Amino acid sequence: MYTLNLPSKQRFLEDYWQKKPVVIRQAFANFSDPLDEHELAGLAQEEDIDSRIISKKKGVWANSQGPFSDFTPHCIGDWSLLVQSVDHYIPEAKMLLDSFDFIPNWRVDDLMVSYSERNGGVGPHIDQYDVFIIQGRGSRRWQVGENKHYNSIQPAKNLKQITGFDPIIDEILEPGDLIYIPPGFPHNGVALTPCLNYSVGFRAPTQRELLDGFVDYAQAKNLFNHRYSDPDISSRDSRFEIKSSEIEKIRNMFKDMIHSVHFDDFIATYFTETKDIDMYSADLTENYTLNEIINMLDDGVMFQRKLDTRIIQQKMRFNDKYQIVTWVNQHRINVEPEHEDMLSAMLNSTILDSEEKNNYANGLIFNQLLARLVNSGGWYPDI
Ligand code: SIN
Ligand code: CO
Repeated sequence: MYTLNLPSKQRFLEDYWQKKPVVIRQAFANFSDPLDEHELAGLAQEEDIDSRIISKKKGVWANSQGPFSDFTPHCIGDWSLLVQSVDHYIPEAKMLLDSFDFIPNWRVDDLMVSYSERNGGVGPHIDQYDVFIIQGRGSRRWQVGENKHYNSIQPAKNLKQITGFDPIIDEILEPGDLIYIPPGFPHNGVALTPCLNYSVGFRAPTQRELLDGFVDYAQAKNLFNHRYSDPDISSRDSRFEIKSSEIEKIRNMFKDMIHSVHFDDFIATYFTETKDIDMYSADLTENYTLNEIINMLDDGVMFQRKLDTRIIQQKMRFNDKYQIVTWVNQHRINVEPEHEDMLSAMLNSTILDSEEKNNYANGLIFNQLLARLVNSGGWYPDI
């Protein structure tokens, strides 16, 4: 378990979130690393895991993309090994990420873990996303500059840096310390000793990324086939003229798509996509019948939440009443208002089994919801 000690989360959101960088000393008291560099290196050998080694020797930067079978040629000079989405593979890493639960979950991306040798780092750069960087084992000097324009350089393939900046923060972080850096603020971390760092990253799509996603969604669901029509067409002086009213009509076609109920469904689907599931094709999740689920529960099977499960809940108004709509890994789960609390409690449980079931008044509904959670691919029977 990790507990994030922030004096006031509300104050943090008001004063710092997306506004200015800050160092928070001992945000995690008695911090213990959720993994070590050997486990991190193990992950960097895996085909499906995104990893890279960034090194600098005699002023020459190199950026090698994983997976790695042999680390020796890459770990030269001052180097850092960085592995993405470690929370999908190491339960303790997921717990560390989950301790940032005061930020809405749909904004959370992943936990990136880095191991740096002394003097290692990725160089001065700017990220487009908010990041909390937790200091694990070792110590590291962090410098952060003002949010303004800087000249970018690319000293190695796919390695974006800036030439330099004047620090407004210049501090040495020790285990359990935390630094928050909003998008656009240049920063540079240099390891003073061999060290581990944990970066909690957030997602913030651009308009174009959303548009791409929306187009994919519309195609997969065969939506929006309504065609432009103009029975009231007017004559004009030039055959080349398009009237503002006609552009407005087309604009309204776009607005209709965005104001349709499909848009809400698209957003929920977009933000609950997991790596395991191909966006819209039938996924590989086994479909269990209710009886199969009940039999497994009775046989003592524990159902575990997958580490990369993504959940969104939306409060929607239906006939003057609010109802919660839940999405788990792109699957919609409807629940009667009287069972909303029960579903919320289940969503917060990493393990659902017959013992957990005893905490709920309605065993029948528990079974049904469990079946939905399992068939959405969010939980799996640990057999
Ligand atoms: C790290 O090296 O652990 C973090 C890299 C960064 O500054 O984004
Ligand atoms: Co960065």
